[in-house]
Amino acid sequence: MSGAPGSAWRIAPGGVISGTLTVPGDKSISHRALMLGALAQGDTHISGFLAGEDCLATARALEALGVRLERPAETEVLVHGVGSAGLTAPAAALDMGNAGTAMRLMMGVLAPQKFDSTLIGDASLMRRPMERVALPLQMMGARIHTHAGRPPVEIRGTPQLRAIHYSLPVASAQVKSAVLLAGLAAAGRTRLTEPLPSRDHTERMLRAFGVTLTQSGRTIALEGGQILRATAVAVPADFSSAAFLIVAGCLAAERALRLTNVGVNPTRTGLITLLRRMGADIRVQPRAAADDPAAEPVADIEVHRSALRGITVPEALVPLSIDELPVFFVAAACASGETLVRGALELRVKESDRLATMAAGLAALGVEHQLLPDGLWIRGSGTIGGGRVDSGGDHRVAMAFAVAALRARAAIEIADVANVATSFPRFERTARAAGLALEVL
Ligand code: S3P
Repeated sequence: MSGAPGSAWRIAPGGVISGTLTVPGDKSISHRALMLGALAQGDTHISGFLAGEDCLATARALEALGVRLERPAETEVLVHGVGSAGLTAPAAALDMGNAGTAMRLMMGVLAPQKFDSTLIGDASLMRRPMERVALPLQMMGARIHTHAGRPPVEIRGTPQLRAIHYSLPVASAQVKSAVLLAGLAAAGRTRLTEPLPSRDHTERMLRAFGVTLTQSGRTIALEGGQILRATAVAVPADFSSAAFLIVAGCLAAERALRLTNVGVNPTRTGLITLLRRMGADIRVQPRAAADDPAAEPVADIEVHRSALRGITVPEALVPLSIDELPVFFVAAACASGETLVRGALELRVKESDRLATMAAGLAALGVEHQLLPDGLWIRGSGTIGGGRVDSGGDHRVAMAFAVAALRARAAIEIADVANVATSFPRFERTARAAGLALEVL
């Protein structure tokens, strides 16, 4: 992947975290803003857009489908919507790079089209499960072929999908979103029941684009054939990127670390609940009213160093902190006492098998731990060793171990960091500004 200057980092041990920082725009919301903007009538202006490789892959795919995009600034996009039936056949397979969200949501967009399409990605994405999305779409009448459940995903366009009531076997916002997007084009009322709440950005943004959605308990319903109307989307800073600095602040912010304009959608902020239970001092100052069901709540977050204690993570908090668990494991390694995470099988099918990659990294740094089929047990001792860690090409694993250096006794080297550009462009610069002694090798 392009975008990062170098493929390894060396972070000197220790350091003090401080300052006021703003991390890049939310990845989940940026993908959705592009897609809904494309399917809408009229022009959608996106501000705060994440110009990371993942969202750029979505942008390129939409352009290949005949959508005109303008980038007046790095973090601004003007999407000239083509309406629900306006996409056109791509000339070649659509390459979604490292972006699982882009591939899965695009399956929902592409299944009801009048043309065929194929989705491919990089080596990591080509290994990731797509059957979880293909299955409900096939129940709706879509003709989708995967290769033993994995990409390439070949889609025969089927404009007449039918609505279904689908009970999701796993709490997955990607599966939910793909079905909702296909449901927009289906005849009848699509219903989805979630086993546990997962991020609800698609539901909020559909409402912002004028779609009526109903929610009753864990069941969401949407009538097919509704028209999306273009709107302005202000993307907040990504909580998942802020998470690395929040943990860094808990470990080493002698004074305060402030993160501004962070998205604090309650379906994303499980990490704050977990860290507070460990004894963290995290203050959330809301910026925008959170009671509009179409709006994304935004806040400034202030973090102070505190002594962390190990905890047992309630399983219901796992989907609400799913992308933050790698850096949470680092917090657990730097805490005192035992931490247990179970019910996190989903971590095995992310950009890497995050349970295995994190366990291998913790082993390299001398942290006492046990890899479980669906989680990790960690015994923290306040500090950790130095050493060499392989990120497995996983952006969040790389950034998590960079944070670990704050409590390390010797330098940490992290290999294979280029994919950090998928979600956090210029992480190196932001990390140094916060106080990490990070050097690009
Ligand atoms: C995402 C949903 C999550 C998350 C991913 C982004 C999204 O995946 O891990 O990074 O934008 O919908 P699942 O929905 O598969 O859990």
